[in-house]
Amino acid sequence: MRIDILSAVPDLLKGPFSESIVGRARQAGVVEVEVHDIRQWSTDKHKKIDDTPFGGGAGMVMAIQPIVDAIADLKSQRDYDEVIFLTPDGDRLDQPRVNQLSLSGNLLLLCGHYKGIDQRIREHVITMEISIGDYVLSGGELAAAVLADALVRLVPGAIGDGESALTDSFQDGLLAPPVYTRPAEWQGHKVPDVLLGGHHADIDKWRMEQAMERTQRLRPDLLDEA
Ligand code: ADE
Repeated sequence: MRIDILSAVPDLLKGPFSESIVGRARQAGVVEVEVHDIRQWSTDKHKKIDDTPFGGGAGMVMAIQPIVDAIADLKSQRDYDEVIFLTPDGDRLDQPRVNQLSLSGNLLLLCGHYKGIDQRIREHVITMEISIGDYVLSGGELAAAVLADALVRLVPGAIGDGESALTDSFQDGLLAPPVYTRPAEWQGHKVPDVLLGGHHADIDKWRMEQAMERTQRLRPDLLDEA
């Protein structure tokens, strides 16, 4: 999988993509994640990428030219399964959507800034709009990092223990069961006996019961959806 990200503040994304699972998956060549500065496509002599909104009002709008030229340039190099705009008024991201997108070969993510991007780009160039939740971030970068991280962990080879991503919360529509490690007793609080017994069928049953109970208690809406 390859993920290209267009951003007005590419430095914001250096950290998330150089550490942990995403960083290791990139180094191992399992995924490619490339962050591009939209300014490099600006034809303005000051490399401007925004302009004042028609009709007036506060804030600036990201202009058509640099974004559309950037997307055209990248598209001339490879085909993209989706051109995704990160925006608070997009479709809410959830695990089924992440699973579906993780089957893609190439994805192009566009991070918004200022008051947003010219509406005509959304209508004629973007193929999918995604929000990571009902709150407003300063830009789409952190949302792109969230999406890319959720995607990369599903790419075969990104996670050492192949089973691990499949047992994440939400992967079977349930919250994950609690986990414990040493010591078996801490300040009088004990690890459930079943986990210490070594009986795998009992452990699996206990985990499933815990997952069901936690989902019922914390997120009953997930059970309704299932
Ligand atoms: N850009 C700003 N806020 C956002 C959000 N909640 N989701 C995706 N992109 C955004």
